[in-house]
Amino acid sequence: MEQLKSIFNGIGEIGFQIAEKIKTGDTGKVEHYNQSGDQQVKLDLVSDQIVEQVLKKVEEVGEIVSEEKREPVRFREGGFKIAYDPLDGSSLIDVNLSVGSIFGIYKGEYRGDRLVGAVYIVYGPRLEMVTAVPGKVLHYRERNGKFEPVGEIKLKEKGKILAPGGTQGKWFPFHKGLIDSLFREGYRLRYSGGMVPDLHQILLKGGGLFSYPATTDKPAGKLRKLFEVFPFGFIFKEAGGEAIDGTTDLLELGVKGYHDTTPCFFGSKYEIERVRKTYLEQKERIKRY
Ligand code: AHG
Ligand code: MN
Ligand code: MN
Repeated sequence: MEQLKSIFNGIGEIGFQIAEKIKTGDTGKVEHYNQSGDQQVKLDLVSDQIVEQVLKKVEEVGEIVSEEKREPVRFREGGFKIAYDPLDGSSLIDVNLSVGSIFGIYKGEYRGDRLVGAVYIVYGPRLEMVTAVPGKVLHYRERNGKFEPVGEIKLKEKGKILAPGGTQGKWFPFHKGLIDSLFREGYRLRYSGGMVPDLHQILLKGGGLFSYPATTDKPAGKLRKLFEVFPFGFIFKEAGGEAIDGTTDLLELGVKGYHDTTPCFFGSKYEIERVRKTYLEQKERIKRY
């Protein structure tokens, strides 16, 4: 889609600008909390402003909303709506781990089934970008100040790595049983605490499972539908994998508020089938009581 091209170009430019700020910007916190109750770091706000300034100039963008904004900002009538996390994993910057930015491009409404494209940027040892449209997920890497295509991302049926999020002491026993049994099968632990690099690793290694489940202290999970979960759900599905909340396709979930969260699982087919079986059995068990 031609219109998405200028949006992808704008996001590429955002990637370069945020990467520059991450290199030398202040890693300190500010006395502000976002809608999800997270204490913001200065770079969250700086990154949010960079995205707003660049996207405002892109004709195809009608409106934006982000993890750091209470409500959407309208630029013009019509156009696509973009929901984004300007800096994901911002609490990892002071320890110099990889972080990212996540974008979902919506037509009409901010709903999973209205996504027409998604993009993420990885700020790691290298600067990389991944774009997704129906049927195609493309991987780019920075070279000489530009993003150059590396290749298409396609998931295999089954991977070898697990990124199990959430406080383990607060996991439900059936969830712990699932993760334990996957480790017994031979899966290896790969969890950095940044969903962008953790999911990027699964996508590039051909498969695996990332989970951020419901926990006893966070029954609706931690990750946000509009800014984190839907864009990655779209990317995983278009790369040949799946994305569910335990039983339901993430992109089919309803939305009540901009900052809604949901439990989420992203992975290749085999692992997601294991999740679905465990969570369906658990649902059945609850019904019987
Ligand atoms: P953000 O920095 O935008 O608030 O998001 C951090 C997210 C995500 O990147 C990561 O997977 C998750 O929080 C980690 O949470 P835990 O520290 O609870 O594992
Ligand atoms: Mn985030
Ligand atoms: Mn963030």
